[in-house]
Amino acid sequence: TTIFLKDYSPFGFTAESVHLRFDLNPNATRVTSRIAFSPNPDATDRRFFLHGENLKLISARIDGKDVTPDVTGAGLTCPVPDAPFIWEAVVEIDPANNTALEGLYMSNGMYCTQCEAEGFRKITYYPDRPDVLSVFTVDIHGPHPVLLSNGNPVKADRHSATWHDPWPKPAYLFALVAGDLIAHSDSFTTCSGNKVALNLWVRPGDEDKCAFGMEALRKSMAWDEEVYGREYDLDVFNIVAVDDFNMGAMENKGLNIFNSSAVLASPETATDTNFERIEAIIAHEYFHNWTGNRITCRDWFQLCLKEGLTVFRDSQFTSDMRSAPVKRITDVIDLRARQFPEDQGPLAHPVRPESFQEINNFYTATVYEKGAEVIGMLKRLVGDAAYAEALDLYFARHDGQACTIEDWLAVFEEVTGRDLTQFKRWYSQAGTPRLSVAEDWADGTYTLTFTQTTPPSAATPEPKPLVIPIDVGLLGGNGDEVRPTETLEMTGATQSFRFDGLAAKPVPSILRGFSAPVVLEREMTSAGRAFLLAHDTDPFNRWESGRALARATLMDMIRDGAAPGADYLDGMLSVLRDDTLDPAYRALMLAQPGQSELAAALAEDGTTPDPHTIWQASEGLKQALAQHAQDVLPRILADCRVDGAYRPDPDQTGKRALGGAALSLLTRLDGGVQASAQYATADNMTLQLSALSCLLSAQKGEEQVLSFYQQWKADRLVIDKWFGLQVMQAAPNKAVAVADALTRHPDFNWKNPNRFRATFGALGMNHAGFHASDGSGYALLADWLIRLDPVNPQTTARMCSAFQTWRRYDPARQTLIGAQLDRILAAPDLSRDTTEMISRIREVT
Ligand code: ARG
Ligand code: ZN
Repeated sequence: TTIFLKDYSPFGFTAESVHLRFDLNPNATRVTSRIAFSPNPDATDRRFFLHGENLKLISARIDGKDVTPDVTGAGLTCPVPDAPFIWEAVVEIDPANNTALEGLYMSNGMYCTQCEAEGFRKITYYPDRPDVLSVFTVDIHGPHPVLLSNGNPVKADRHSATWHDPWPKPAYLFALVAGDLIAHSDSFTTCSGNKVALNLWVRPGDEDKCAFGMEALRKSMAWDEEVYGREYDLDVFNIVAVDDFNMGAMENKGLNIFNSSAVLASPETATDTNFERIEAIIAHEYFHNWTGNRITCRDWFQLCLKEGLTVFRDSQFTSDMRSAPVKRITDVIDLRARQFPEDQGPLAHPVRPESFQEINNFYTATVYEKGAEVIGMLKRLVGDAAYAEALDLYFARHDGQACTIEDWLAVFEEVTGRDLTQFKRWYSQAGTPRLSVAEDWADGTYTLTFTQTTPPSAATPEPKPLVIPIDVGLLGGNGDEVRPTETLEMTGATQSFRFDGLAAKPVPSILRGFSAPVVLEREMTSAGRAFLLAHDTDPFNRWESGRALARATLMDMIRDGAAPGADYLDGMLSVLRDDTLDPAYRALMLAQPGQSELAAALAEDGTTPDPHTIWQASEGLKQALAQHAQDVLPRILADCRVDGAYRPDPDQTGKRALGGAALSLLTRLDGGVQASAQYATADNMTLQLSALSCLLSAQKGEEQVLSFYQQWKADRLVIDKWFGLQVMQAAPNKAVAVADALTRHPDFNWKNPNRFRATFGALGMNHAGFHASDGSGYALLADWLIRLDPVNPQTTARMCSAFQTWRRYDPARQTLIGAQLDRILAAPDLSRDTTEMISRIREVT
């Protein structure tokens, strides 16, 4: 069944208070609920329906009298009084056999929950919808040293604990944790002087991996006070690390639950990239306390209301903590790698979808990352001051409410007097707009004419023009900036912008800072790109010019077997040599566009991409660059050596990133001598893993793969890396065999989402390997998706997106993929999650 945004109606009752009692038992946990309901004056439909799935109903009472509700697989109904009443129910659930990791489940002997989006209905009967807010009190009984729930602790004794959360919340923010856990503790004093106890709870053995996450939390709390004026609102803030978790982390009120990969880190076991990601996710979940929890969503169609805004806020945080240009560039790389393919394929949907079958399938790069881009555009259009004022109004007006995108936009309209009707199309239209540009120069006037088109999609058959903020600066022939950045506001399908009073024809720098999530189509010579690579005063666009040059060079290599031109090679060499540039930025410059991104660009240009040819060109360009830069590489590597204790700060991180890029080029010249040396002496995971990665991508490192395993076999998070790296760095003709062999490794615990993703996510990322022409990559992935689906539908459905780009490729590959999609669809009892994903990808409805 499909659910539609237009069908929204409020629930017939309000929940005044909720009391839950848990008697924990692995196979028979009893959940006793006592809920005070009242008729909702804003509702017309008074049917009393409570969601409930996989629950054994033991008893139900209304106002103390036993009742016998009508129970189905989805929930129950029951006649109720036309006045306030007390609902009481006892249900039994089986957390130990909950392999879907949704609702209450067990991970390594500990109990934990994941309720967003609709997992609470697997815990007890309840109106499991985000617009039903209530105040929760929770009693937990169980033989566990640590018993946690939301809000503030009320009392705790040997085998029980009571928690009370004073802030009304929807059920998706409920959480419970019980187990043998150890706290890494600290505190934070808020701006109004409340001392908040902070705890990061982990399993024994992980205590030494908590310090960084705790610091990130404290920084996040301070930042949200300073930048958004948002203070924390409970006496405690708990974070728990869990090994079996379907996603990154979850913002449950006062009790965030994290995938251990998104919070645990030590220098020996985590890379710089892991540290950065952890800092961002801690911030993200913390920021949800206001954008998500205090102000939540009316219905799941509004998911971007909290997610787009919270991603935007965590990006601002990272930009403030670290390098803003580096953060912007990595965000755009990520957007192009994950959101663009989604927006340009069969899974395309608007930032605010209008229908779904399974909401878990809409926690997407479009809702999250494009949702954040939309907010960035809004801020650019209204300016920083109006943005701040609008946010203050949003918090003041909607605190405690479940809101919509209309509520969100209304505060901006009120503060600025703008009509955002057209801007709102960013929320309702799918597809990535193409922006083409033509220039004209006459009598001291320079004119840029832009044309926007959004390709039609199933979700948006007739796209209309969007409001596009285009940041433009003008450079002179000598590279000086003759006009600083200004934001052009494009609203028409085609629109011209004039710059008067110029002495000479300028060189434009367009879409600075990636001011809108569009594909800029601009005819330019390599020399023109090389000029901007050398001179652009906007750091993002300077990087972008290098990227465009690399892309164009690779496309020529792929299409006509051309040799890489001097514009790219010399341009990169000057960047590499330029010690005034941040090493992290230089490392990003040296990175090439991904092979999947090249496949998309070729397809867009009317050339059917051949993954093997793309791989060869990529390898060829790396080899050419290595040779071209051979004289400077040893010096760069030496300059990037870090003395002193490891710190995952921007300075050291940047050096290790540039050193890693240099090492990967050097490895193509020296047969792995330097990489082996680095591997042997590395005292942190960043250096160890980058050395191993260089060796593997040069078809070496057999010995190191074995020793790495021996060294780290007791550390699950490190062994995830070991699984992933071998598949990712395998040569195209070996990747499938490597992945297949790893599935027979005793440590391939396929029910653990991290391990499954490490292996098969990596296979999908090995572009030429996954697309092996015999279809073996498709078949292997399909085998495992079919196997995982009955166990964990949510993770299975997510991994289906590896197939989303299948229409780009040649007819033979399409036939092979189509056959696997059909095979998955034909699997008996396929979950709703996977059925929806595969049907959308296959375009069967
Ligand atoms: N709200 C969480 C976050 O963004 C993610 C929850 C994902 N839920 C899901 N069903 N996929 O921080
Ligand atoms: Zn979020």
